[in-house]
Amino acid sequence: MPTLNDEQATQLLQAAQNAASRAYAPFSKFHVGAAILTQGGEVFTGCNVENSSFGLTNCAERTAIFSAVAAGALSAERDLVAVAVVNREGAICSPCGACRQVIFEFGPEDVVIYRAHSGEIAHTLAKDLLPEGFRLR
Ligand code: THU
Repeated sequence: MPTLNDEQATQLLQAAQNAASRAYAPFSKFHVGAAILTQGGEVFTGCNVENSSFGLTNCAERTAIFSAVAAGALSAERDLVAVAVVNREGAICSPCGACRQVIFEFGPEDVVIYRAHSGEIAHTLAKDLLPEGFRLR
């Protein structure tokens, strides 16, 4: 089972909720926030950033991960510990396929927290969300 304590999970969910309030989502009006915990113990957040050219939209999870990489907090040597994703409405929402692949890149063993189809908050390993995920390293 995933090794993330309750306090860490609560902290990530709260940080993700704050990030959702900064989403740029004038088209879908679906405001998403993500918070990630790195092996170095740092937390980074991200929100979805939409674009008039719809296909250029970046999801909250990828915004958070790319920010951490750019800050030097996530790398081939420093994996993710956990990713939490929420939305302003508290609706059911698991990471999209593209985000699953990006999360997987930084650690198949990391814990992904999201509101599952059951309506409950799920803690699922990245490798279980993306079986046989692609990896070159
Ligand atoms: N979205 C995310 O940011 N993360 C997800 O896990 C699912 C979808 C965003 C993309 C788009 O801006 C909006 O939600 C509707 O698809």
